[in-house]
Amino acid sequence: MKILLTGAGGQIGHDLIGALVSQGHQVVSTDLAPRPPSHAHAGGVDWQRLDVTDAAAVQHMFTEHRPELVFHLAAILSARGEQDPRLAYDVNQTGTWNVLEACRRAKVNRLIFTSSIAVFGPPPSGPLPDPTPDDVALHPGTMYGATKVSGELLCAYYRKRYGIDCRGVRFPGLISAAMPGGGSSDYALFMYVDGVRKGAYEAFARADTRIPLMYMPDGVRALLELALADPARLTRTIYNIAAFSPRADEIATSVKRVLPHAKFTYTPDPVRQGILDSWPKSIDDSAAQRDWGWKPKYDLDAMTDDLVPRVTRMLELGAILSH
Ligand SMILES: NC(=O)c1ccc[n+]([C@@H]2O[C@H](COP(=O)([O-])OP(=O)(O)OC[C@H]3O[C@@H](n4cnc5c(N)ncnc54)[C@H](O)[C@@H]3O)[C@@H](O)[C@H]2O)c1
Repeated sequence: MKILLTGAGGQIGHDLIGALVSQGHQVVSTDLAPRPPSHAHAGGVDWQRLDVTDAAAVQHMFTEHRPELVFHLAAILSARGEQDPRLAYDVNQTGTWNVLEACRRAKVNRLIFTSSIAVFGPPPSGPLPDPTPDDVALHPGTMYGATKVSGELLCAYYRKRYGIDCRGVRFPGLISAAMPGGGSSDYALFMYVDGVRKGAYEAFARADTRIPLMYMPDGVRALLELALADPARLTRTIYNIAAFSPRADEIATSVKRVLPHAKFTYTPDPVRQGILDSWPKSIDDSAAQRDWGWKPKYDLDAMTDDLVPRVTRMLELGAILSH
C-alpha cells in the first residue's frame, strides 16, 4: 500500500516507518525538518520536506503522491505548545484542516489522526471520572488539547460530510528510546534517559503524579491495527487506548530494578505539573477492545526491561555520531 506520513521525523514516525517498511508498504515520509540521523535505517524511504501549515504545499504533495492511507503525525506537543500557543494553533489546527482538505481533494481514502489524552481536562463540576471513558465533556486546559479536540471533531465532520474514512486514537504519554519531544509526559522518558546517562534525574513532576502511559511498540501496533480494521466494526471515529498508569515514583522503582544506583528526586514545575494534574489518571478503552480487538502487550516492568538496553544503545550511538 502507498502510505504517506506527516511529521514523520518525530518520536512516533521513527518507529512507525520501520514497522510499515517491514510490512512491505511503500512509504512517503514528510516533515518540516530534514531526515534525522536516527532515521538512517529507513534507507529506501522517500523523504520529502512538507510544512503542514502550507495549504498549497500539502495539496500538491497529496495530489502528486496520491497515497491510499495517510498517518497525520505533525504537531506541536503540549509543553512546547504552552510556550508558543500560536505555533501550536497553526500546526495542529490549521495543519490538520489542510491535511483533511488535501485528503478530500486528492481522494485519499483513509486518514489516521493521532489525538491525545490532552483532550481531557477537569470539568467545572469536579474531577474527571477514573478511569475516564471515551465520551465525557472535553475541557482541555492547553492549546494542544484544544487543537486536538478540534481535530477530532473535524475528522468526524469530514467523515460524515465527505466520506473520508478518518479514524484515530487518543494516545497516552508514549515512551520509547528517543529523546523527549516537548510533551508533559517527558518526565517518564527522562527517568530512563537520564537514569542511564547520568545515574540521576530530577523530575519536573510530583512523586505521586499518575497519568496513562504506553510503550511505543504498543502505540505503533495500535495505529497499524486501527488503520487496517474493518470499517463495518468501527462504532466511533476516535478511540481511547490504554496500557498502564503508574505513579512517577513507581516508574522510578521499576527503573531501579534494572539500574539500582539511579537516584530520582521530584521538583514539580508549576506549568507542566498543572497540565499533568488536568489529565486523566487512567483510561477506559473498552470500545477499542471491543471494536478492533485492542490489547496492550507491555506493562511497566516489561517496558523497563526492554527499554533500558535500547536507551543505552541510543545514547552510545548518539555519542559516536556527535564525534
Ligand atoms: N509522543 C506522545 O507521547 C504522544 C501522545 C499523544 C499524542 N501524540 C500525537 O502523536 C503525533 C506524533 O507525535 P510525536 O511524539 O511523534 O511528536 P514529535 O514532536 O516527536 O514529532 C512531531 C513532528 O512534527 C514535525 N512538525 C512540526 N511542525 C511541523 C509542520 N509545520 N509541518 C510538518 N511537520 C511539522 C516535527 O518536525 C516533528 O518531527 C502528534 O500528533 C502528537 O500530538 C503523541
